[in-house]
Amino acid sequence: MSTQNIYILGIESSCDDTSAAVLCNGKILSNVVASQKIHEQYGGVVPELASRAHQQNIVPVIDQAIQQANISKKDLSAIAFTKGPGLMGSLLVGTSFAKSLALALAIPLIDVHHMQAHILAHFIEEEGYTPPTFPFLGMTISGGHTQIVKVRDHFDMEVIGQTIDDAVGEAFDKSAKIMGLPYPGGPLIDKYAALGNPKAFPFTKPRVDGLNFSFSGFKTAVLYFIQKQVKENPNFIEENLNDICASIQYTIINILIDKLKKASKETGITRIAIGGGVSANSGIRSALKEGEYKFGWTTYVPKFEYTTDNAAMITIVGYLKFLKKDFADMGVVAKARIQL
Ligand code: KG4
Ligand code: ZN
Repeated sequence: MSTQNIYILGIESSCDDTSAAVLCNGKILSNVVASQKIHEQYGGVVPELASRAHQQNIVPVIDQAIQQANISKKDLSAIAFTKGPGLMGSLLVGTSFAKSLALALAIPLIDVHHMQAHILAHFIEEEGYTPPTFPFLGMTISGGHTQIVKVRDHFDMEVIGQTIDDAVGEAFDKSAKIMGLPYPGGPLIDKYAALGNPKAFPFTKPRVDGLNFSFSGFKTAVLYFIQKQVKENPNFIEENLNDICASIQYTIINILIDKLKKASKETGITRIAIGGGVSANSGIRSALKEGEYKFGWTTYVPKFEYTTDNAAMITIVGYLKFLKKDFADMGVVAKARIQL
């Protein structure tokens, strides 16, 4: 093995996915994710159960990541881990493990900001994928995040818009729950929406100043609408599922695209890179494509496994920080909330 190779082990445990990945220089060798099924029955993430599951999963997940990468622990150059933001109990598992392993192997420890990682995931080297050039707008949309970030450089980012209440993924999941669909309902809404009429049931878009978002009012509007309709016709949901899903998805996508248009206009930036689980949505993907010819955008969507919570994105940040020798000291602590 060449001595010039830099191997980074990444550990992600901020929410309900335990993940470990190995990167060699800019390329991913393995990316293992253990998703916690336990939360499905509760219709959302239960923090206490999440941290327990991380403790059960972390050793086998890291072992598997190292095995799949076909390297030995001794080859590792540094350990990168998610410091925050996220659920404290979950973050502590990854942080403590990363520290212990870095100490045991006597290699540097690198702390990573989870939101920065979602954006820098675009810089993982993948065949056929060209990352955005600076500056660009990063939009991270998931069950926990809704943010528009102006990215001037790898480590020079500014949040220019974010949700003031629920995340966009929650808008999908909570709407799905109202209709009796299982958690997480986002992918199901996407599936049924493909067969429905997006203009069947108009929902009003929330009015929020500037580039910020709000989804809690939207969720309530869906709830009241469904309750009213079901009162009149108990079979309303079953009879109109495709149209309801298409209308919900259409409204949510319009909310996102309106803000992106505004952000692009205000900043003069037309390169738009998205991440987070909701970027899998077929409606947002086609709306972005439409933006390419309508507004002259260039849009970037990374490989799906790099958009949801994963450790591959942690390793790329680790690698970029490694090159700058930007290491953490052993006193570093997990933080539930941190600015970008
Ligand atoms: O990034 P992610 O896996 O986890 C975090 O929330 O951090 O994102 C999960 C979210 C869930 O809210 C899920 O419903 C949503 O992404 N999602 C989708 C789709 N696939 C996943 N929402 C709409 N359409 C989809 N195809
Ligand atoms: Zn995330």
